[in-house]
This record gives sequence, C-alpha cells and structure tokens, in this order.
Amino acid sequence: MEAAIERILISPESLKTRVSALAGEIVDAFGEAPDGVTIVAILSGSIIFLADLIRELPMRMRIALVPVSSYPGRTTRSRGAKLESAALPDLAGRDVLLVDDILDTGGTLRLVQREVAAAGPRSVRTAVLLRKRDKASPDVSVDFVGFDIEDVFVVGYGLDFDGLHRNLPYVGVLRNETDSGS
Ligand code: IMP
Ligand code: MG
Repeated sequence: MEAAIERILISPESLKTRVSALAGEIVDAFGEAPDGVTIVAILSGSIIFLADLIRELPMRMRIALVPVSSYPGRTTRSRGAKLESAALPDLAGRDVLLVDDILDTGGTLRLVQREVAAAGPRSVRTAVLLRKRDKASPDVSVDFVGFDIEDVFVVGYGLDFDGLHRNLPYVGVLRNETDSGS
C-alpha cells in the first residue's frame, strides 16, 4: 500500500460488485427512456467510476464530460464549486444521468443540477459512487449511491488529493498530516 494511504476503505472487489449492482438499478430506472440516456459526468474525479459504470450499461447513450473544480491545490477543504465552462451539450428533452465521484457538502452537485435543469431536459437523475453520510446537505438529492462512507478524506478510484492518487485501484483514506489546510 502507498505511504500516503492510512487504510483501504473499499477494495477493488467491492467496487466492482457494487458498481455492477448500481448499473442494474440505473437500467431499471431508465427502462423507458426513448432516446437513450445523456450522461453528464463531472471531471475529473468521476473518470474511473464512469468508465466502469458505462460498460455495464447496455443502453443507447451520449456522454458529456464537464469540468468542475472545488478543491484547488493542496487542500482537503472545499472552496465552492466552479463550472469551468459552458461545457454542457444540448440537453433539451433528454433523459440525463449526472455522474460524480462523491457527494461531500453538495456544493458541486447543487451547481451542476441547477445548470442542467435550466437546459430543459426531460428528466434528470444523479449517481454518485460515494456519499459522506454525515455531511451531505438534504437539499441535494441523489438517486443512485454506491457507498455511504464516514467523513474522512479519501483518494483512489478516480479521487485525488492535489492531483495525485487517482490511479489507485481501491478507495483509501488519506493520511492526515498531508493536509496543509491552506
Ligand atoms: P462537494 O461540492 O463538497 O460536494 O464536493 C464534491 C467534490 O469535491 C467531489 O466531486 C470531489 O471532486 C471533491 N471531494 C469531496 N470529498 C472528497 C474526498 O474525500 N476526496 C477527494 N475528493 C473529494
Ligand atoms: Mg469532483
């Protein structure tokens, strides 16, 4: 295990099993989407989750990748989300599935859900791999959750600290002393 990681929270095997099950829930929910699904995935943390999830979704889909940042640099404290460009595709009349890595304070998804809703989709659902169960604000609703986790800073399986550790095949808890808090 990497020195920066204090402990493994979710193993590669658990990730695989749960992502498959989540795909099943999503297929059931989108069963009647006539023109397939438009996936809007939030960069960069969702990349691994997205790649594994979409290969388990046997449905017609379009995929848009939207850059949103909320943790610039070496900090584990959110500073408010920024949608970095008008990167959304035409969503009018579409059945949208928003995909993000983790629901923490909810600032990111609140922003993106608002932008997506303003684009006139037929429906919007949201999937997150992880949710910090004690923190997520009640006004941000998610439809599909992979794992509810404790309030610790995690990396791996797409999630980073200062751009690092996204490639770890598990979700692990970051060692505390690496948080500069600045
Ligand atoms: P929120 O806006 O506070 O909900 O934070 C959501 C975003 O912050 C996620 O999309 C992640 O990119 C990032 N984030 C939140 N918690 C963590 C964490 O524990 N590890 C890594 N990134 C995180
Ligand atoms: Mg993110």
